[in-house]
Amino acid sequence: MPSDTPYVVAHLAVSLDGNTDGFTLDAARFHQLVSTTWHEDATLAGSETVLSLEPTLIAGPGPKDPGPLLAVVDGRARVTHWQELRDAGHWSEVLALHCRTTPPRPIGRFVPEIVVGTDQVDLRAALRSIGRRPGVEVVRVASGGRLVGRLLADGLVDEISLLVHPVMGVGSRTWWGEGPPPARTLQPIDTDTFSGGLVWLRYRVA
Ligand SMILES: NC(=O)c1ccc[n+]([C@@H]2O[C@H](COP(=O)([O-])OP(=O)(O)OC[C@H]3O[C@@H](n4cnc5c(N)ncnc54)[C@H](OP(=O)(O)O)[C@@H]3O)[C@@H](O)[C@H]2O)c1
Repeated sequence: MPSDTPYVVAHLAVSLDGNTDGFTLDAARFHQLVSTTWHEDATLAGSETVLSLEPTLIAGPGPKDPGPLLAVVDGRARVTHWQELRDAGHWSEVLALHCRTTPPRPIGRFVPEIVVGTDQVDLRAALRSIGRRPGVEVVRVASGGRLVGRLLADGLVDEISLLVHPVMGVGSRTWWGEGPPPARTLQPIDTDTFSGGLVWLRYRVA
């Protein structure tokens, strides 16, 4: 049966033991793989990831045109730097994903929003809606693991891409989120090695 959601890639930098924190990721390699591998039409970001970026945002060059859409799962309306995100030079536009219990937003806030789900953002409905936008076929997830874990549990991840860093015993947040990872059958797509001891693993989720 054809999928009613776009192709979803979870691309994460991890330690050998699967954590996304506690080490310095090779950002240049991480983003080089993003820009040369999938040609994403949208980035689906967790609110924690975006909140961790907000203090580092400076006046950017403006929207990237053409560029991917940035959609943020923000059920609690905690993200505030929408304009700075849009102007950062990575995305063409921004989109807030809310649910019916999301607190009221400031009047006149410029960011468009989609409201799906009751207590939390309905991720499948959000992806369906994003996928109905013209030209959106590939969505990359930007998350330290918690959003990826929810998407995996809901059967919404098509590809897992891990850039393994040569470090272990550091950090405490796994790339599959909280609790044990869901059982999944994986089909290998590709592997590669890079300088600095980095290993890249790509799998299709069956
Ligand atoms: N190593 C890497 O590759 C990498 C990549 C990106 C980020 N990071 C780091 O990772 C950290 C943040 O990652 P994180 O894993 O803590 O958080 P995250 O994935 O960025 O954010 C958690 C997201 O999951 C959503 N969520 C949780 N449960 C849900 C459910 N049942 N239904 C729908 N949505 C749900 C939350 O929505 P609500 O807001 O609505 O609650 C939130 O958007 C930052 O420190 C960042 O720097 C690392």
